[in-house]
Amino acid sequence: MVSRVIAVDPFDFVAFGGTGDLVRRKLLPGLYHRDRVGQIPPETRIVGTARSRLEPGAWRDMARAAIEEHVAAEEREPEHVARFLARLDYVAVEAADEAGWSDLAARLADAPDRIRVFYLATGPDLFDDICHRLGAAGLVTPASRVVVEKPVGTDLASARAVNAAVGAVFREEQIFRIDHYLGKETVQNLMALRFANALFEPLWNAARIDHVQITVAESLGVGGRAGYYDHAGALRDMVQNHLLQLLCLVAMEPPASLDADAVRDEKLKVLKALKRIDGSNADRLTVRGQYTAGASAEGPVPGYLDELGEASSRTETFVALEVEVENWRWAGTPFYLRSGKRLAQRVSEIVVSFRPIPHSVFDESAGPIARNELVIRLQPDEGVKLQVMIKDPGPGGMRLKRVPLDMSFAQTFAARHADAYERLVMDVVRGNQTLFMRRDEVEAAWTWIDPILEAWTNAPDGPKSYRAGTWGPSAAIALVERAGRTWHEDGM
Ligand code: BG6
Repeated sequence: MVSRVIAVDPFDFVAFGGTGDLVRRKLLPGLYHRDRVGQIPPETRIVGTARSRLEPGAWRDMARAAIEEHVAAEEREPEHVARFLARLDYVAVEAADEAGWSDLAARLADAPDRIRVFYLATGPDLFDDICHRLGAAGLVTPASRVVVEKPVGTDLASARAVNAAVGAVFREEQIFRIDHYLGKETVQNLMALRFANALFEPLWNAARIDHVQITVAESLGVGGRAGYYDHAGALRDMVQNHLLQLLCLVAMEPPASLDADAVRDEKLKVLKALKRIDGSNADRLTVRGQYTAGASAEGPVPGYLDELGEASSRTETFVALEVEVENWRWAGTPFYLRSGKRLAQRVSEIVVSFRPIPHSVFDESAGPIARNELVIRLQPDEGVKLQVMIKDPGPGGMRLKRVPLDMSFAQTFAARHADAYERLVMDVVRGNQTLFMRRDEVEAAWTWIDPILEAWTNAPDGPKSYRAGTWGPSAAIALVERAGRTWHEDGM
């Protein structure tokens, strides 16, 4: 497969939080990759900003180290690295006062009409100040865009405040609320699968689909992020954004086009159709967990409280939910969502489980007839599998067997996959908002999440414990088994 590189217009990229983890791990390596394949025009500049009083050379050294750490050796040709580093500049800026803003403005002044991307890779507490000062310094031009990292708020009220602060300076068409799951290759493939094939759409409803499972499991613990994580928890950190976005893409009606608003209108309808979970039903429809010491593939690992350094915490590191989409297409087909840290394996997948055949023509010796399943694997081993029944080959009568029609992308397409951030940053430059969340979407997601959080806060018990390295508390298994279903474990 030959991937196609469509050059973008020249742009100036300003990374706030320029010395932080996201910039080093994702943004600089991502921009390097796009530069390496020739997508970024020569005039483009990348400016890091942060509080630290660094010389541009020191920031370039940091960028070089980041590329050495996060880009494969065979993709680091000296001439490409040197060309990339030559684009980099650094300005020390204080979000909370005037220091540095006129320097930044002076740095960009010679190209007032060029596309400007202001990437807020800082804590959300700085979004308001940064946007305000960008506006006051006259940096926001018609061709400017701002990228807002999650979390956009910690509940509906704070999300509205963040949206209002950013919206006071930038128009909605200039605001890119990033959810990096939407940039993952297989998530995009979900849209291709649904809307570029005649095969699935007629079956894509409650009459044909028994239930859907969305799992985003991580094997790592919270590690150095315990401070942030303890105020977030799995519901805010993963479900409010990543898992709900995946659910929307599975459940939405076909949009009329891939225009940003056409897609986002359909996703919004799904969010608004989610059955409310609150104090009256949270016991039945939600499970929270928190890991205790256990084992990972590398050996023994500590529990959450040890990592946090506290004697107690009610923060959930695991969540499982039974969700209903209350509309004509999905009534009666539950969506089971689960996500957690320190689970048995790192795996993200969507499993669409079809209803059983209405009548079997085979006798018992043929063996049981398993259901068809469509498994869309986001990571690792990205790919799509359709589980179908066939006759077990060879003599011995009619014996049935379930086999996967398997399309593993690594085998089918040898090319390297762009990281989600790479694709999304280029979409920002192009001004394409299809894979970004609109203000009303974010707020609708919080509107659904808030009553769950409130129910948990008011519940007498905290999360149930589970050993690190397992699949979460046993209650999560009971959540699906009480309806005669099981979590998908094929290949896990
Ligand atoms: C982030 C969460 O949004 O997604 C992290 O804040 C999580 O807690 C991460 O680890 C998972 O992303 P990925 O791409 O590694 O699945």
